[in-house]
Order: sequence, then C-alpha cells, then structure tokens
Amino acid sequence: MVRTLVFRCRICGDPYIGSEAPTQCPFCGANKRFFIEAKDWKSDEFNVSLNEVERKNLESALKLELDNAAFYDCAKNAADKINDHYSFAKFKALMKVEREHASAISKFLNISRPELEKLSCNAKAKDNTKEGWERENRAIQAYTKFENEAEGQRLQEFFQALVEIETDHLNLHSENLQHFKEEIV
Ligand SMILES: [Fe+2]
Ligand SMILES: [Fe+2]
Repeated sequence: MVRTLVFRCRICGDPYIGSEAPTQCPFCGANKRFFIEAKDWKSDEFNVSLNEVERKNLESALKLELDNAAFYDCAKNAADKINDHYSFAKFKALMKVEREHASAISKFLNISRPELEKLSCNAKAKDNTKEGWERENRAIQAYTKFENEAEGQRLQEFFQALVEIETDHLNLHSENLQHFKEEIV
C-alpha cells in the first residue's frame, strides 16, 4: 500500500498531501528538492536574522512580486474578456505563484502580505506575454544579485529557488512568443 504523507515546501511553507512530494510546488513553483516531510519542519525556517542589505533586498523583492502579481491579474482578466482560455489559465497561475512569492518574502520580513494594487496591462495576450517575459527577466537579474549579496545560507537558497522558478516562467513565455510568431507567418 502506498503511504499518504504530509509534506511542506521550504520556499513558501505551504503543506502538501500525497504519496510523494510534487515535481514542482503547486503554490510557489519550487523544485521537489525543497520539500520535506511536515514532521521534520523546523520552526525557524522563516525566522532568520537579516543584515541591512538582506532586508533592503527582500523589500525590493516584495515590491517586484506584488507588482508582477498585479500585472498578471490584469493580464488574466484581459484574456478572459477575449475568451482566450489558454492565456487566462496561464496568467492566473502566474498571478497566484507571484502572490505566493510575495507571501513568502513577507514571512522573512515578519509582516503580513500587503494587498495587491490594481495595475494596467495590454489588451492582447501576445503583448502581455512579451511584457511578462520582460518582467520575469528583470526578476531573474534582481534575484541573482540578491542571492550573491545574501550572507545567510537560507536566504541564498531562497533566492536561488526564485531564480529557478522565474526562469521556468521566462521559458514558458518564450515558447508562447515563438508560437505567436508562427501564427503570423
Ligand atoms: Fe512552495
Ligand atoms: Fe516570483
């Protein structure tokens, strides 16, 4: 008989029930290797002492994530308006993941996650995909820098996970942009 276990993602802290950890966290997108069994969870995972640079970088990361989540929320609604089911699903998933990143960062900062603001976006899914690509690219650059500047191993690991996740998003947008190109030809 396959045992049902409770796991927790060390990047977002969310729990998951299954016979094994998922390939990617359904909440924050982190790789399977960041999952541990819930019984092994340590209470200090998000309770790390921060130096001035680490705090400043986490605050910048929080702004970035909230802004990207708000953008994807707008892109999701724009896709819904034109009955583009694929783009609606993609932007909705991205909005939820970026919101989850904002929540995780808020845990490190020991604050509650700020509300999403309303942001404008493009009408066409193609243009939002292009802007999404640029936003993910900016996030990857920033988090690579934050990873290098972090002194604590836990924060290095956290930013490394975010770089991996945002790279997955970037690649997804790239594939879609390629598809949009083929449609025009
Ligand atoms: Fe997660
Ligand atoms: Fe993110």
